[in-house]
Amino acid sequence: MNPWIDVAAEADLFEGAGIAVQAPGHDVALFSIDGEVFATDNNCSHGNAKLCDGYVEGHEVECPFHQARFDVRTGAPTCGPASEPVRSWPVKIEGGRVYLQLTA
Ligand code: FES
Repeated sequence: MNPWIDVAAEADLFEGAGIAVQAPGHDVALFSIDGEVFATDNNCSHGNAKLCDGYVEGHEVECPFHQARFDVRTGAPTCGPASEPVRSWPVKIEGGRVYLQLTA
């Protein structure tokens, strides 16, 4: 099983918005929604945009470039023009820290 990687303080998160964090080999966006935290690839699958800058509504983030939407729980696209998913990873909160379990 892959180790849990400490990527942020829980206090760095913003409810209803994304932040960017660095994890080994990955540029990650963390989203805090209704007390839960979700992690996706920060790079949009459609172009050179950062999803941490996107507008969050419900469990979806809207890409700031061409308004594609992704479900932050799964990384699945829910609205074009993006048709490819972004990666998503398991998150746990422990002792005020945010941990990701990165897969290959
Ligand atoms: Fe994200 Fe085009 S770059 S929708």
